[in-house]
Amino acid sequence: MDKIVVEGGRRLEGKVAISGAKNAALPILASSLLTDGPCRYTNVPDLRDIHSIIELLQSLGVHVERDGQTVVVNASSLSSSEALYEIVRKMRASILVLGPLLARMQHARVSLPGGCAIGARPINLHLKGLALLGAEIDLEHGYVEARAARLKGAEIYFDTVSVTGTENLLMAAVLAEGVTILRNAAREPEVVALADVLRRMGAKIEGAGTANITVTGVDRLHPVEADIIPDRIEAGTFMVAAALTAGDVTLTDCEPDHLGAVTDKLAQAGAGIEQAPGSIRVLGDRPLAGLDIRTQTYPGFPTDMQAQFMVLMTMAAGQSIITETIFENRFIHVSELKRLGADIVVSGETAVIRGRASLSGAPVMATDLRASASLVLAGLVAEGVTEINRVYHLDRGYERIEAKLQQLGASIWREKI
Ligand code: UD1
Repeated sequence: MDKIVVEGGRRLEGKVAISGAKNAALPILASSLLTDGPCRYTNVPDLRDIHSIIELLQSLGVHVERDGQTVVVNASSLSSSEALYEIVRKMRASILVLGPLLARMQHARVSLPGGCAIGARPINLHLKGLALLGAEIDLEHGYVEARAARLKGAEIYFDTVSVTGTENLLMAAVLAEGVTILRNAAREPEVVALADVLRRMGAKIEGAGTANITVTGVDRLHPVEADIIPDRIEAGTFMVAAALTAGDVTLTDCEPDHLGAVTDKLAQAGAGIEQAPGSIRVLGDRPLAGLDIRTQTYPGFPTDMQAQFMVLMTMAAGQSIITETIFENRFIHVSELKRLGADIVVSGETAVIRGRASLSGAPVMATDLRASASLVLAGLVAEGVTEINRVYHLDRGYERIEAKLQQLGASIWREKI
């Protein structure tokens, strides 16, 4: 297992290229199951979660080839409709194969993902939607088994906005007979990116990016070529790193339009922001001020940026408040940040952060992806050395984070333990 070591106190400066979005690549790779030929994707990030979905597709008999950031998926050899526990347990997003497998194979048996560190994360909305599309669903021996000769269009209302729920039902509905309407659908850019790819495969989808998506089923889809959109969470993490270290960092290959809430809050904290098509410059030339954040579904402030902003708030003057409305247990980074010297009090879904703290480096560990990122950020401004253990969480979602930070002048490296 590796650990990441950071020596705090360096100002970040320079340019960093943002990788393709993990959360867009995952459903898009899964959507290849709906076609019968080679789909070619570019700008696919090299991450553990991407390796997991590729392994899962291969376990279904699908042919996958990877060359750098290009991945070619050919599901003409699809031979199994069963996603096994051994793979699903590594990554909850494996549930994304349920919809397309059912649509293509009339059957799917997928291990239930179970809870995770940040909350219970049920899949009831995925299952309710598939049942409304006519699937017969059984839960047995830790697996969900779904069957349907051909799915039939239906009107589906989401009680709670769900990103992968919307994506799963979108992939199921494109080959269903008739019209499906998804109401209270997720509006995240990753949902729009998936819908774009499906449309290019020949699907009929209207309203992606709004709360109501209409899908008119077609008989078959054809292979596509597509470029994965930039990762807005990786971008947001580097933006926070720049502001935190009073740096001057320009992000390239990113999509400023997807970062509205993050940009707004950083500007409110005092960071200077300059945007151009495909790039954002963050200047930390003023002292940081406290601010309040409430996580929401897109276009609101993303829960996946909450932990990183908490570090920023620790270094800002005065009091800040975070209200986490999406996941019930997403403050697990707090106890580790407190070990570095942060002053944070959590009560239910609210965290009160008092700045500015003087952080001092220590060994820490995290149990989820974005929490790990927040510890790296804290290490950048802590006095002395911070060691981040359980780096595999970080490797699930950040491509070469230590190399990219090094390039910006950070003193950070990976060690084998
Ligand atoms: C996706 C993202 C994740 C992000 C999250 C919220 C991927 C691969 N992951 O996760 O990075 O943090 O969106 O933006 O895209 N819920 C139910 N029943 C369901 C499904 C969800 O109650 O059937 C609840 C969840 O417990 C949670 C809320 O809905 O409280 C939102 O979860 P959801 O949008 O589904 O998250 P994911 O799609 O798993």
